[in-house]
Amino acid sequence: MREYTPETITDAVIEQMSTTADPRMKEIMESAVKHLHAFARDVKLTPAEWLQGIEFMTKVGHMCNPARQEFILLSDTLGLSALVNIMHDKTKLEAATGASLLGPFFRENAPRFEPGGQIAKQVNGGEIALFGRVTNVDGAPLANAQLVVWQTAADGRYDIQKEVQTMDCRGTFHTDGDGAYLIRTVRPLGYYIPLDGPVGGMVQAQKRHGMRPAHIHFLIGAPGYRELVTALYIAGDPHLEDDVVFGASGDLVAEIREGDANSPIKGVPSIHFDFSLSRETEADKRGSRVGADPERVAAGNGTAKAPYGDPPAAPAARRSFLGGLLRGR
Ligand code: BEZ
Ligand code: FE
Repeated sequence: MREYTPETITDAVIEQMSTTADPRMKEIMESAVKHLHAFARDVKLTPAEWLQGIEFMTKVGHMCNPARQEFILLSDTLGLSALVNIMHDKTKLEAATGASLLGPFFRENAPRFEPGGQIAKQVNGGEIALFGRVTNVDGAPLANAQLVVWQTAADGRYDIQKEVQTMDCRGTFHTDGDGAYLIRTVRPLGYYIPLDGPVGGMVQAQKRHGMRPAHIHFLIGAPGYRELVTALYIAGDPHLEDDVVFGASGDLVAEIREGDANSPIKGVPSIHFDFSLSRETEADKRGSRVGADPERVAAGNGTAKAPYGDPPAAPAARRSFLGGLLRGR
């Protein structure tokens, strides 16, 4: 009979999993087990701490619903989303505009606007214009490229965080024949990520401020080009250097200017930013989003394709044991 020790159990698990049919699943699970076991050995994880971890993850799960994805928030605050995003961005074919986080507040089906449409229901004197072009990396215009834009309203909250669920401060625009886009919105504010759940508890226990610098999200697509998930960060924000989710980067900082002579809308402060897209590869067709509309995640139908099929039916003996358990509930 085998005797497991802290040193031998990792290989035993990997050996048992070695029959995994999908080679990528095998690679990921082997590495995950190696690192998980190494972590437990490193910190000498106690039973009480292990249970605390399980309880924490359970609370994270319970906090998820069609409007909220606490697991993505956890990934964001641990820098995992930013890491996956940065690694993915480095695989693009050409040196196009950099990516940033999709975040948990993206929603499918943002309403469509004509160029120059105002996406905020309440403007209250805070109107700004966003303009520029979407091009390929050589500067050639991409006509009819799609820009999905979303941000907080003037009160610093996303529509999805409000009691009454209406689409606000988000919209879908298209470029004209010169690749030009024009959007009216309001000044975004820096904001606290949702701190009322278990992830917020973690952030507060770590004495982190929990804020994101002011930003506007963009999801930009054109046929034949890698979809660009990015955001513009407003120059001068005090949290550009210590974003709680590690999304802000220097190349994406944009200034709100008064009286820019190039702005198509006079008398309104504006941001001028040109985006460039990288040509699409076969691999890009599998998706570039680190995240999804929480409604789709809740339905188990995020943008990523489910990599592993349904489990096979349990053998008969096991089925009747399970059946007994289920009937006893
Ligand atoms: C956001 O920018 O919308 C966001 C990203 C990560 C965590 C929370 C919010
Ligand atoms: Fe955001």
